[in-house]
Amino acid sequence: MKAHVVLLPGDGIGPEVTRSAHRVLLDVASRFGHHMTFEEHDIGGISIDRYGIPLTDSTVEACRGAHAILLGAVGGPKWDDPNAKTRPEAGLLAIRKELGLFANLRPIVTFPELLDASPLKRHIIEGTDILFYRELTGGLYFGPSGCETLENGEQRAYSTAVYTTSEVERIVRMAALAARTRRRKLTMVDKANVLEVSRLWRRVTARIMQDEFSDLEYEVVLVDSMAMHLLSRPKSFDVVVTSNMFGDILTDEASMLPGSLGMLPSASLGNSGPGLYEPIHGSAPDIAGRGIANPLATILASAMLCRHSLGLEQEAAVIEQSVRKVLADGFRTADLVARGQPSIGTEAMTDQVLSALEQIQSTTHA
Ligand code: IPM
Ligand code: MG
Repeated sequence: MKAHVVLLPGDGIGPEVTRSAHRVLLDVASRFGHHMTFEEHDIGGISIDRYGIPLTDSTVEACRGAHAILLGAVGGPKWDDPNAKTRPEAGLLAIRKELGLFANLRPIVTFPELLDASPLKRHIIEGTDILFYRELTGGLYFGPSGCETLENGEQRAYSTAVYTTSEVERIVRMAALAARTRRRKLTMVDKANVLEVSRLWRRVTARIMQDEFSDLEYEVVLVDSMAMHLLSRPKSFDVVVTSNMFGDILTDEASMLPGSLGMLPSASLGNSGPGLYEPIHGSAPDIAGRGIANPLATILASAMLCRHSLGLEQEAAVIEQSVRKVLADGFRTADLVARGQPSIGTEAMTDQVLSALEQIQSTTHA
C-alpha cells in the first residue's frame, strides 16, 4: 500500500523522538513492502520563531493532504511569557480543531517488565488496561474566554465549558463501540453534581447507552472520585469517556500507572480525514538535545498510526511486540530506571527496537 505521512516534530525533545518513530515506520514499510512517503512541517514554538504564529496555513494544508500525521511535542520556556501574543500550545489546539479531531484515544496499559518503575504498588496496577476517550475539540478549551479590566482596576478573566448534544453523542458512540471490542464496560466521568454542562453529558450518554448499547455495562463516576479510583482500582476500568479538560488531567494522572509518561502514545481521530498521533508527554525542555529522551511513546504512537489510519494491524502489532521485547531484554531509557542505574539513550533505544523488529518479523515469516 501507499501512504503519505506528515511529520510535525515541534519543540524540545519532539524532533528527537519523531526521528525515532520515523526510522521505525521506514523500517516497517520496507519490511512489509509498503510505499510510505514523509514530509516535515513546523508547529509550535519553532513555527513562532520562523513565521510568528504557531500553526501556518501551509502546515494545515499539508496535514489535510496526508493519510496520517505524527507529532512530537510543542512548547518550552522560551515561549512561556504569559504576556506573549501567542503560544506554541495554540498551534496544537488549532490543528486538532482544524482537522476535526474530536476523539483522543489514550491507552493506559501496564507493561509487566516495568511494574517496578511505577510509584504505585504492583498488586494494584498489574493487569491495568484502560482506554481513555478524551473529547478534544470542545469544552473549556474552546468555549468563550476573555480577560477584562474592571472599573476598580481589577482584572476579571473567564473560560467557559460548552458542549452540544451532538458533540457528546459522537464521542460517546465512538467510545462505546470500542468497549464492545474489549471488556464491554464504559465509564463516563463528569461533575454532574455541580456543572450544568456535565448534566448534559450525563443525559445524552445515558440515552445513547440505553438505546444503542444496552449490551454494555455502563457506570458514571464523578471526576474527583475518579481521580481517587484510578489509583485504588485501575483494573476495574475498561473504556473511559470524558470531556476535554477532565481527560487532560486524568490521563496525566493515569500515566503514573505504567510508570512513565515516556511510554504512552495517543491518537486523535475525527470522522474522516487523517488522524494525528503523538506521545502524551510534552516537549521536556530540561532534557532536550541531550539524546536521552525515551522514544517509546512516539514509537508506540506510530503503531497506532499504522492501526487506525492505515489499516495495518499486523504492522502495528509487530511494532508493539518489538517495544515489549526491548523492555523484556532489559533495555531502559533514563526515565525508566532508578537514579544511578544504567540506561541507554534515544538512538540506542531505537536501534534496539529495530533489531527486535527484525527478529520478530523473521520468526513470524519463517
Ligand atoms: C495534552 C497537552 C495539551 C493539552 C497542551 C500541550 C495544550 O497537555 O495533549 O494533553 O492540554 O491538550
Ligand atoms: Mg495534557
